[in-house]
Amino acid sequence: MQQKKNSFSGSIGFVLAAAGSAVGVGNIWRFPYLCAKDGGGLFLIIYLVLVLTFGFVLLTTDIAIGRKTKKNALNAYAAISSKWKFLGYLTFLVPALIMTYYSVIGGWIVKYLTAYVVSGTEAPAQDGYFTSFITSTAAPIVFMFIFLALTAWVVYLGVEKGIEKYSRILMPILLILIIGIAIFSLTLSYETEDGTVRTGLQGLSIYLIPNVEGLTVKRFLEILLDAMSQLFFSLSVSMGIMITYGSYVKDDVNLSKSINQIEIFDTGVAFLSGLMIIPAVFVFLGTDGMTSGPSLTFLSLPKVFASMGAAGRFVGIAFFLMLGFAALTSCVSVMETLVANCMELFHKSRKKMCIIIGTYSLVTSVIICLGYNVFYFDLKLPNGSVGQLLDLADYISNSFLMPFISLLTSILIGWVIGPKWITDEVTKNGESFKREKLYGILMRYVVPVVMLVLFFMSTGLWDI
Ligand code: PHE
Repeated sequence: MQQKKNSFSGSIGFVLAAAGSAVGVGNIWRFPYLCAKDGGGLFLIIYLVLVLTFGFVLLTTDIAIGRKTKKNALNAYAAISSKWKFLGYLTFLVPALIMTYYSVIGGWIVKYLTAYVVSGTEAPAQDGYFTSFITSTAAPIVFMFIFLALTAWVVYLGVEKGIEKYSRILMPILLILIIGIAIFSLTLSYETEDGTVRTGLQGLSIYLIPNVEGLTVKRFLEILLDAMSQLFFSLSVSMGIMITYGSYVKDDVNLSKSINQIEIFDTGVAFLSGLMIIPAVFVFLGTDGMTSGPSLTFLSLPKVFASMGAAGRFVGIAFFLMLGFAALTSCVSVMETLVANCMELFHKSRKKMCIIIGTYSLVTSVIICLGYNVFYFDLKLPNGSVGQLLDLADYISNSFLMPFISLLTSILIGWVIGPKWITDEVTKNGESFKREKLYGILMRYVVPVVMLVLFFMSTGLWDI
């Protein structure tokens, strides 16, 4: 007997769940940094063009593969062509790797949220606070466990009663919090020691006005690649997640409309993150204060919150709550993909698979946590950067596997079975698909070339 397939209740549930996956730490701690580094409005314009072209192609492909085959990545590629089964296995590796460290980051967020609730803005802003936390043995593991248990609980509850329900609650709250902090950020001002006053609105102009000073072809290419790799990670494409979520979409849902809404949500939150972070960092730390990733979130922003006076504590709480929601819905999508793939492969219940994948996540995350103390060593990555175990897992999944998977997918869809296989799925209920022609052209000619370049560049095999 065929197992009853899970599904989202309708298009809104699907859009919010997919947006929940797409909106994550990447939108909040990486997008604003890239904007500040890559010419403000110039980066914004480039990113927007890429979202409407590449982003749309990759997202449409994943979601349509999922809905058409009604399978997870492991079996979906095999269903398209038996020779391409390996691509399913390759794709499965990405969430398997991301799962090893995403809850570790989630744990850091829970720790900071707790610190703002319990003690206020001073302690987290102190030099050495973050380092002493992540290099301690027990605390990072405890906080990671809290975050992982929450994730596993939502996944255990299932597609409609867990993932969809929580996305419906958390995503609107996230949006309200981020809009609130962004408005507050724009009203800030600060007088420095030499008497100059920096305002949030000045920060806004740094963010929005395109800065083309010193722009060369090489620099333009660098910006393009920054935007491209950000786009990938941000939309959660080429890692099987959107294939899994696509397989839960009912046949009467208008795919191209939903895909537009997911893109708007993800890009909107990224834009709002810039609005929230760039002016605040500029006001209190100046133009050189902008950093990315953990150093922005756990070192620079606590200093910004500490400079805000009494309001800082509330803003800190709101910020880490919002970041926690963003990370939770993303981590849920990673775990759901692993659980759903394994349920399909081993024909086991959701409960059993949650226990097995939960145990896998726990063990690997503990190892990643210990990468900052017991297993500490500096790893030199092929792209030249130096990091710990977490950075290695991140590097293999995002810089190596994701462009490679997109490259192979574009060959499979563009050349082996043809783009019509996808576009037919999008238009199967007679819906209009305005970018159908564009889809075919990009999938066949542009995506393969760009992915090849991205792959070589991020592996350090080619330096522009
Ligand atoms: N898309 C998420 C972000 O922008 C990150 C993510 C990656 C989520 C992988 C799930 C899986 O941060």
